[in-house]
Amino acid sequence: MSRLKGLVVAIDGTAGTGKSSVGRAVAQQLGYGFLSTGGLYRALAYHVFAQHVDAADSQAVLSVAKRLDFVFERQPDATLKMWVNGEYLGNKLNLDEVAQTASKASTHAAARAVLTEKMRQAGKDGGIILEGRDIGTVVFPDAEVKIYLTAAPEVRADRRVKQLQAQGVAADYGQILASIKERDLRDSTRAASPLKPAPDAVQIDTSHMNMQQVIDAVIKEINKYAA
Ligand code: DC
Repeated sequence: MSRLKGLVVAIDGTAGTGKSSVGRAVAQQLGYGFLSTGGLYRALAYHVFAQHVDAADSQAVLSVAKRLDFVFERQPDATLKMWVNGEYLGNKLNLDEVAQTASKASTHAAARAVLTEKMRQAGKDGGIILEGRDIGTVVFPDAEVKIYLTAAPEVRADRRVKQLQAQGVAADYGQILASIKERDLRDSTRAASPLKPAPDAVQIDTSHMNMQQVIDAVIKEINKYAA
């Protein structure tokens, strides 16, 4: 292994497959850092939105991306906490409008290149799990371990409803399912770095697995590499 702090583990897949929960838990077990790269696209979307920029305008989105300064700080729970232009955006990034704008803003290749470089900087020394859409294909094509998680849209919508209900937030299953399908379609059909498994990724369908089973399956793949 040639990296200073350990392996780079890429976990890609659609929203709602458990990438974040699984990635964070695995990182904790390994003593690795964990970066949810959708956060960078959500931060871009937040600034696009706040500055009343049209998310379809690639030049305008690029100039917003270039003005973003990211600082990452590893937390005790493995997560890399992110400050953007000195601000911790926290729950503001979880809004559905932000997710939809992120999906639109992330269709532009030039803006993607800016954020991809930030992810590479954060991960280059290894000892990190990065979760996203194009980690194994574009950001770290040389990642030592690549996992691609899938799950049926209905299962993912159901998980999201339960998550929101647990937070005391009212949730409409039909609306959530439609939003998931809309994002899947846009993320997987865009020209720039579409969501797709790397040829050498291990694919895991989590539809009928609980979180512990997925964690175990990912750890098994990492151990195979380490063996
Ligand atoms: O994983 P998430 O829901 O936080 O991601 C928000 C959006 O960001 C998603 O719709 C697509 C985009 N994204 C991306 O294009 N590439 C990544 N590596 C991560 C996220």
